[in-house]
Parts: sequence; C-alpha cells; structure tokens
Amino acid sequence: MKAMNNMKKFTLDEYRSMVEAELRTSFLPKGVGYDGLLSAMDYSLNAGGKRIRPILLLEFCRIAGGDVSKALPVACAVEMLHTYSLIHDDLPCMDNDDLRRGKPTNHVVYGECTAVLAGDALQAAAFSTILSADLPGDARADCAAILANAVGADGMCGGQFLDMLGEKKRLDLAALNEINKGKTVALISATCKMGVSAAGGSPELLDAAARFGEALGYAFQIRDDMLDVISTAELLGKPIGSDEAEEKSTYMTACGREECERLVHSLTDEAKAAVRASFEDHGFLCDLADSLVDRLN
Ligand code: IPE
Ligand code: IPE
Ligand code: MG
Ligand code: MG
Ligand code: MG
Repeated sequence: MKAMNNMKKFTLDEYRSMVEAELRTSFLPKGVGYDGLLSAMDYSLNAGGKRIRPILLLEFCRIAGGDVSKALPVACAVEMLHTYSLIHDDLPCMDNDDLRRGKPTNHVVYGECTAVLAGDALQAAAFSTILSADLPGDARADCAAILANAVGADGMCGGQFLDMLGEKKRLDLAALNEINKGKTVALISATCKMGVSAAGGSPELLDAAARFGEALGYAFQIRDDMLDVISTAELLGKPIGSDEAEEKSTYMTACGREECERLVHSLTDEAKAAVRASFEDHGFLCDLADSLVDRLN
C-alpha cells in the first residue's frame, strides 16, 4: 500500500528558508576563546549552498507522515555534515580549491588548521544535533546510525579515499561508480532514509527512499562532473577545471558528455519510479529530481 498523508505541503523556497533560518543561528560566536572556530564553521555553513539534502530529508519526512518541524534539526545536521565534507574536500591536500559557494574556501580565509577543525567540529555537531532533536528515541538513534554508516570508511570517507587513489589513472565507468557510491551517493541516499526514519516510516518506505536517493545520487555526481567542464565559476560558485587540474577520472573522461546526459536522464527516471511506486504524494520529489537534470550550479 502506498503511503498517504494529509499534511501541509511546502514549497522548495519554504523548505530552504526554514533550513537557512535554523543554520544561521547554529554557530554564532558566544564570547568564548574558540569564537574563531565558531566563525569558521558559520562561514562555510552559511555561505549559501543549494540545501538539496535537507530539503530531500524534510519532504521524505512529510510524505511518510511525519512532522516536518521536528525533523528540521535532523535536516540541518545533514547540511552540517555535508559542509564539513566540502571544507575538507577543498583543502590543499585534497582538491586544492580556492572558491566554494561563491566565496573563498574556508582554508583560504581561516588557514588550514582552523579549516580542518571547523570540519571536525561540524561533523560532531551533526550527530549531537540529531541526538538532541525532539523525536522519539528510536527515531533519533536510527537517524544517527544511518548517517554514521553513510559517511565513514564504508561510505563517504571511503569514497573520498578511492577518489584520491584514482588520481592520475584512467578509470572506467564501473570504477567511477564504485568511488561515487561512497563519495556522494551514500550521503544522499542516507538523507532520504533519515527523512522516513524521522517519521517512523515502514521498512518498505525506507527501501523506496534509499532507492530514490541512490539513483538521484549517481545522477547528481554525474552532473557535478559535467559542470566542472561545461559551467563557469560565476554560475557554479566553485572553480571549473578542478578535476582536470587534479588529474581525476570523472564521468566526463570515462563516458563523454552525451553519454553523461543520457545517464543523468535514465537515473532520474529510475529515482522517480522508486518514489512513485511507494508514495502517493510524490510530485515534489519528482519535480525536484527533474530540476536537477540540467542544473547549472
Ligand atoms: C557538492 O555538493 C559536492 C558533491 C557531492 C557533488 P552540492 O552541489 O550539493 O553543493 P552545495 O551544497 O550546493 O554547495
Ligand atoms: C566531493 O566531490 C564529494 C564530497 C565532498 C564528499 P567533488 O570533489 O567532485 O565535489 P566538488 O566538485 O568539489 O563540489
Ligand atoms: Mg573531491
Ligand atoms: Mg572537490
Ligand atoms: Mg566535482
């Protein structure tokens, strides 16, 4: 049976405003010796990302019958974790990038040591934010466990490690899928599942959310690799040509632009089919998935 609900709907902008308002006050300096660290955390967190992950989480919570306002801290936690990953990804020892979300990267402004610590502290804050949410204990524990499994060695960090090992090698599609399964897909898929978990949704709904997030996650990274070649730094808010400069294999080097476009379309169709089958109220997610197909940033 499909999940149905009569809960109030939200627009993309409403979700984004909710998340922005909450994140804006999360790490304000408070007259302590480590105010400089809080400023560095606040700088990257509030530099203006697309907020795709928290938006997905809130909508999955809503269509699984949950209370969006209670899931808001969990959604913000995912954005904290994602922001930590970006700060570290940009470091000179990793992708060595100096522009992110349209601003100088964290280490450029605050120095490498502070940037590493800002990332570390954002990661810890993500888990404490989930664990202090006003949700049943089981839901909090489930969300924390889903996130932990997605971002450690078996997920995002493992993927980033493989990404690093792949530099200066010519990788094929299968090898890239293996990297990106951890690097990008794991967190996006976990985010969708966490929305359902926050609502106390059934295993069947969790499975549908995971499948949606997986297909969307691959499409998202393929488009990201395309944008590194076809976009501009002004539109993207991050440098273009970064992958080539680091001698990375990407979906563009492995498949070429046309095949990338075809893959993004077919993965998006796969994602939409996963939510259509299990959620009555799947319109928002299908529209969001479609809008990411030809995103320019
Ligand atoms: C960039 O993520 C890193 C990838 C996993 C491709 P986003 O494209 O979601 O970055 P922001 O959050 O909008 O800055
Ligand atoms: C980064 O992938 C993914 C993570 C941060 C885990 P990329 O290195 O392609 O992301 P961008 O292009 O710098 O945003
Ligand atoms: Mg990278
Ligand atoms: Mg990068
Ligand atoms: Mg990239």
